[in-house]
Amino acid sequence: MTDLDALVVTAQADFSAAPTPAELENAKARYLGKAGRLTELLKGLGALSHDEKKTRGAEINQAKQRIDAALTARRQAMADAELDAQLRAEALDVTLPGRQRGIGGLHPVSRTMERIEAIFGSMGFDVAEGPEIETDWMSFTALNNPENHPARSMQDTFYVDMKDEAGHWLNLRPHTSPMQVRYARAHAAKHADLIAGGGVMPEIRVIAPGRTYRIDSDATHSPMFHQCEGLWIGENVSFKDLKVVFTDFCRKFFESDDLQLRFRPSFFPFTEPSAEIDIAFASGPLKGQWLEVAGSGQVHPTVVRNYGLDPERHIGFAFGMGPDRLTMLRYGVNDLRLFFDGDLRFLQQFR
Ligand code: PHE
Repeated sequence: MTDLDALVVTAQADFSAAPTPAELENAKARYLGKAGRLTELLKGLGALSHDEKKTRGAEINQAKQRIDAALTARRQAMADAELDAQLRAEALDVTLPGRQRGIGGLHPVSRTMERIEAIFGSMGFDVAEGPEIETDWMSFTALNNPENHPARSMQDTFYVDMKDEAGHWLNLRPHTSPMQVRYARAHAAKHADLIAGGGVMPEIRVIAPGRTYRIDSDATHSPMFHQCEGLWIGENVSFKDLKVVFTDFCRKFFESDDLQLRFRPSFFPFTEPSAEIDIAFASGPLKGQWLEVAGSGQVHPTVVRNYGLDPERHIGFAFGMGPDRLTMLRYGVNDLRLFFDGDLRFLQQFR
């Protein structure tokens, strides 16, 4: 092997070993640069005779061409590898399924609320909403539940350490019953002239669904839960009407004509007489079991007076039911907390 062949072989090895384009350019300089080994050889030609110059010059040129070729090949190989890597990194798998937008759905309790509103709506009931932060007067006093009365402790109320402008203590409403008072007072005010003139006031027929709060938490109680109040006041509204309306509602809600209802005597300060309403299914896993779904009763005269109406003329009934409970019964859910945990695996079943 001539010295030139050896030089070419070293250059080829050097180029192949260069790991980056920058190092390849450094390697190139070592052979072809101003002080490169090939350049030095060319400079040495000057010392040779004319003939020697010719042959040696041609040999050196040939070696230079081979080194150039090796350099070009290595540059190309590096560029190809880089392009390959880039293509691989930016690869797009067009066979992957597209990203879908999640489809939302109504919460099961919201579905129940809508159902309740639709059924009572079809019976001529208005739907009203009211504040969740209530005054002591609305939550209790107006409902014939005076300060320091033991019946107040039936409801484990969340009290707020704050008073409203009128000096009433605030609480998170423990039931929707204050909506009886708010709605009836507005209704009485609206028809005040008519009532004063001895005319017949249009009946009050309203339901008031919403959130309620009590210090209570287990499988069947949550500190935040839902209630739906109902109120029907007129000159001729009786307990019999309550039975008819509520029976009709339950049968429609559960889509079952042979559902049984039981009115069990009970106590509420704002109704007299009072009853708990129990239902029993005629079939299914809960067949024959009495299940409590609402409190109810004929509105107490003191409460009617607090509506701003005359209890001698305006009578009727109220009820308060638990939409959470109704939802559990309708869908066969046995733990109330599932409704409020926000677990999509549970909620998606109702979509
Ligand atoms: N407010 C009562 C409760 O929370 C339910 C009820 C409403 C009872 C209306 C009678 C009349 O238990």
